[in-house]
Amino acid sequence: MTITTCVFDAYGTLFDVAAAARQAAEEPGRDKLAACWQKLAEDWRRKQLEYSWLRAVTGAHTPFWEVTKDGLDWAMEAAGLAGDLELRERLLALYWELSAYREVPKMLTTLKAMGKQTAILSNGSPDMLDGAVDSAGLAMVLDAVLSVESVGVFKPASAVYQLVEDRFGCARDEVLFVSSNGWDAACAVGFGFQTAWVNRAGLPMDRLPWQPHHVLSDLTDIPQIAGA
Ligand code: LAC
Repeated sequence: MTITTCVFDAYGTLFDVAAAARQAAEEPGRDKLAACWQKLAEDWRRKQLEYSWLRAVTGAHTPFWEVTKDGLDWAMEAAGLAGDLELRERLLALYWELSAYREVPKMLTTLKAMGKQTAILSNGSPDMLDGAVDSAGLAMVLDAVLSVESVGVFKPASAVYQLVEDRFGCARDEVLFVSSNGWDAACAVGFGFQTAWVNRAGLPMDRLPWQPHHVLSDLTDIPQIAGA
């Protein structure tokens, strides 16, 4: 089936979620963070995702910004940084302007030149996603920014993947869904999308009932896959 529509997860896929902690750690007077920013970034991300799944299965939805703050609070306490309120505010502010991975603008521009429809499908709320898209200058190469807020449940609920069909009116197997989260890519296969897992960190495959169709180390080859 020809791919008509390329849909991207946002955080960790188009936008570098470690950039906030890395950037803050480079600022003057942040010696303690400089010594632990990688672990803090990993804990922040892991807890943010765990809280999103737990809220999805318990029906206790809240905007992604809340689980982002809750995850950071857990990670800062684990790092012995819980009392540093100025650092907390700085890290949260940086999350609104995460940098896009280097290859993203050219990859999206190429997909548009090929006539593909492009979109973000993310747990992020519309205001968070607008902030990230604007600061990375990607608005012109995206046809839609789809947020879970319109269905009130986080990924990998099928109601989220359904947003793509509803917006574009395309068949599921015309969609190439791209995520750096192994669980997201796997569950999107279960929904019926073609999927690519961007495994930048070289992680093992998640043990789930579905496996992504493509495994990549970055986003450079997405136009080639979409055009094949
Ligand atoms: C997102 C998270 C899961 O953007 O990365 O949806």
